[in-house]
Amino acid sequence: MFAKLIAVSSYLPKKIMSNEDMTKIMDTTDEWIVTRTGIKNRHWAEKNETTADLGIQAVKRVLEKTGLKPEDFDAIIVSTASSENRWPSVSNQIHGALDFPRTTMSQDIYAACTGSVYGMSMVSSMIKSGDYKRVLFVSAEKMTNFIDLDNVDRGYAPIFADGAGAMVFEATEEEGIMDSVLCSDGKLGKLLSDKPIDPESEEKGMVFRGLDVFKHAINDMPEVLQTLLNKNNLTFEDIDLIVPHQANQRIIDAMVENYKIPVEKVVSTIEHHGNTSSASIIIALDEQIENGRAQKGDLIAFTAFGAGFTWGALLLRL
Ligand code: COA
Repeated sequence: MFAKLIAVSSYLPKKIMSNEDMTKIMDTTDEWIVTRTGIKNRHWAEKNETTADLGIQAVKRVLEKTGLKPEDFDAIIVSTASSENRWPSVSNQIHGALDFPRTTMSQDIYAACTGSVYGMSMVSSMIKSGDYKRVLFVSAEKMTNFIDLDNVDRGYAPIFADGAGAMVFEATEEEGIMDSVLCSDGKLGKLLSDKPIDPESEEKGMVFRGLDVFKHAINDMPEVLQTLLNKNNLTFEDIDLIVPHQANQRIIDAMVENYKIPVEKVVSTIEHHGNTSSASIIIALDEQIENGRAQKGDLIAFTAFGAGFTWGALLLRL
């Protein structure tokens, strides 16, 4: 029994913020942002558009694509790192807004930028257990919730962006989610957190030790991918497409170089979307399916890294 991906959709808010727009709200330049991150544009949600609203748009699209109705789902699992409310969860909010039945369970998971790899792995286990036949997996991220427009922190504001993705997984005997390797190191949590973990800390807002994150991400993302391939007796030749978390183009470049990953197989959408946290790999996959670069039968490898620290890789047969 496998969790098979039946359809994927994504949603990006209408407002596009270019690097030029960023120079109007902080002391930065297009040149600095492009050379340090590879980002040129990012989508920003409106003030009154919530994390759940982004998820709802992605879910509406995937329901439309498949013709499925809310009552066709046993569960909604949402990955988010940026929701405005701790409860009700974003999955509960999507459940309510789109009239899912009381028999559809809903739950959020928190693994920051690695959330979609963790989440898909969980969905696979749920389906393999036999208890769930069809699961809606969503990632919704409004990372601009962390940007204070009255006091913009130029250290991270150019990187983060908003977006959502939705995936339908079904129990089938056809290959789907094949395997995953998930890791975490809680001792490093203090290097990247939505606010200081230490209650005595004088620091305000997000704690973002960019260089430390960078150093760990460039090793942990490719290493966990290599571990997953070794575990399955695969090499990069067997993989059709590699979809890494879109954190920073320099992280993707370093990962490719250090682990001799065939660059032509690596997806990068960061130039247009920035870092949409856990939504980034779903948005990137949706785009590759839409433009024909990813096709039915392809073996896709995801790898991601995020706060926690968390990191992981997952294999999906389309
Ligand atoms: N515009 C212009 N200058 C900026 C700037 C900006 N937006 N942000 C920082 N700078 C300046 C700094 O003040 C510093 O100046 P100084 O040398 O005079 O002190 C200089 O640029 C270098 O800053 P630094 O923070 O060391 O840059 P960096 O090369 O480490 O790049 C990141 C910063 C954030 C792009 C990089 O560390 C990164 O991408 N880390 C990964 C973070 C990530 O993606 N996290 C998400 C979770 S996976």
